[in-house]
Amino acid sequence: SWTTSNVVEEAVAAIREQVGTKRAICGLSGGVDSAVAAALVQRAIGDQLTCVYVDHGLMRKGESEQVEKDFVAATGVQLKVVDAEERFLTALAGVSDPEQKRKIIGREFIRVFEQAQAELVAEAGAAGEAVEFLVQGTLYPDVVESGGGTGTANIKSHHNVGGLPDDLEFQLIEPLRRLFKDEVRMVGQELGLPDEIVQRQPFPGPGLGIRIVGEVTKERLDLLREADAIAREELTAAGLDRDIWQCPVVLLADVRSVGVQGDGRTYGHPIVLRPVSSEDAMTADWSRLPYDVLSRISTRITNEVDEVNRVVLDITSKPPGTIEWE
Ligand code: XMP
Repeated sequence: SWTTSNVVEEAVAAIREQVGTKRAICGLSGGVDSAVAAALVQRAIGDQLTCVYVDHGLMRKGESEQVEKDFVAATGVQLKVVDAEERFLTALAGVSDPEQKRKIIGREFIRVFEQAQAELVAEAGAAGEAVEFLVQGTLYPDVVESGGGTGTANIKSHHNVGGLPDDLEFQLIEPLRRLFKDEVRMVGQELGLPDEIVQRQPFPGPGLGIRIVGEVTKERLDLLREADAIAREELTAAGLDRDIWQCPVVLLADVRSVGVQGDGRTYGHPIVLRPVSSEDAMTADWSRLPYDVLSRISTRITNEVDEVNRVVLDITSKPPGTIEWE
């Protein structure tokens, strides 16, 4: 019968058999799927697994710490962190076209991840060991969507940690291939992962890079991180996390709006709140958030975030509007 502990036990046994004494690598994105996949494989083969986390500098406040501290504390996993913020910011300098940004972030991500991967393979080789496996957090819906194939590392080509090259010489470990998202969360819980990781709402692979309308700079990212943290804090405090699918917070960096603060007029930027309800992100409706919550978020963001003098609410359904602005 289906119980979470059965699923974990069976997966652990299967992974042990598949990997034997070889080594495996897993990319962490900060998302639920890669975290649970990594935790399962760690449970099965311990230090034969090394995780890689590419910090592209486009994460929200506290998210990298969550991977580097909380996830490691909960699982005991070996983690290699690559601080690639400068590299990503340099590659993104001067670019404001949304598709260009996505392409650049995806490309740089693959390059940095491959380099880390190559280093791990070389280190293992020097120690007389072989890295033969790559862990992926592929879920059942991804398998169906891609035609049920197996053995390729290219399932979610524009998504998450996916988009790996075709010339990959790794065999895949995909311990979540038969699970739906809610089951993955249950497995994560069973494995002792913190709620903040297991219950995390969707967040796009390109991160805040596609939530700044305009060029992505460090200053703008810091500003957006502050505004986003306030919105998330207030939504959590109001107990609304389970009611909404996600709430992108977007900085209209290329728009200047006039405000009045203290004695003078200010020229700042608007922040957009995009709370949505959805079942699967294919369609969505804007969430009817309580006015007092919206009001607190607006007051706090305009008071606490320099350069933001206006907060606006996106009341567009999907379709026609996508969930993200870019
Ligand atoms: P849209 O904006 O297309 O988003 O309505 C649908 C869902 O997908 C997420 N999203 C992404 N996730 N990489 C991802 O991993 C991406 O490039 C990406 N773009 C959008 C978005 O947050 C929403 O949940």
